[in-house]
Amino acid sequence: MKLLHIDASITGTASVSRQLSAAIVDAASEAVPNLGLVRRDLDADPIPHLDSRALPSVRPTGETAQPDGEAARNAAILQEFLDADVVVIGAPMYNFTIASQLKAWIDRILVAGKTFRYTENGPQGLAGGKKVIIASTRGGLYAPATPNASADFQEPYLRTIFHFIGIEDVTIVRAEGVAFGPRQRQAALDAALAAAPGVVAGFAKAMAA
Ligand SMILES: Cc1cc2nc3c(=O)[nH]c(=O)nc-3n(C[C@H](O)[C@H](O)[C@H](O)COP(=O)(O)O)c2cc1C
Repeated sequence: MKLLHIDASITGTASVSRQLSAAIVDAASEAVPNLGLVRRDLDADPIPHLDSRALPSVRPTGETAQPDGEAARNAAILQEFLDADVVVIGAPMYNFTIASQLKAWIDRILVAGKTFRYTENGPQGLAGGKKVIIASTRGGLYAPATPNASADFQEPYLRTIFHFIGIEDVTIVRAEGVAFGPRQRQAALDAALAAAPGVVAGFAKAMAA
């Protein structure tokens, strides 16, 4: 079984989402023997914005992709995702949505003909069968059915893009309100960290069966 571990936080050692995603990956490593780990740190090794030069890698434009390093890298990013059984994503909320580093990665995995296609009946996801676990962190409170839920363009967005490519098995482990002071930050993180083993237990059991 292969697990792709992605982090997008730009806050380094202070990062809550990095702590949380690492705990989820550690729990998975303990629970699943011979787990193959692949790491992608989008802050240490950023992916550039999708631009006109990169477009042929992700959409059939009629133009041939330049046989340069960027095309090869885009292909490698996509293949790494396609090869993964489980994807763990450290996804902080920055300015009400995901980090732009994570958006650049998403722009390389939503690839026409590879992870989705359009049919006469509308879009069809082609990347089903994977499990996605999102370590979601935010300074404020936006959980579903709370007063600020409509300002959350992070978790619903991530669910939407994975649904679009055929992945319905998306679990969110959330630490929020971390800007409300050290006590709330620690309480939110502790609760999320405590949830990590339970989140991996489901797929670990399925893998062991
Ligand atoms: C550039 C930046 C923008 C942020 N924007 C928001 C925001 O719009 N809403 C919010 O609730 N928290 C916001 N925060 C707080 C972060 O969501 C919070 O610190 C969270 O822990 C970030 O994850 P990280 O610690 O892994 O970097 C922002 C933080 C930074 C650094």
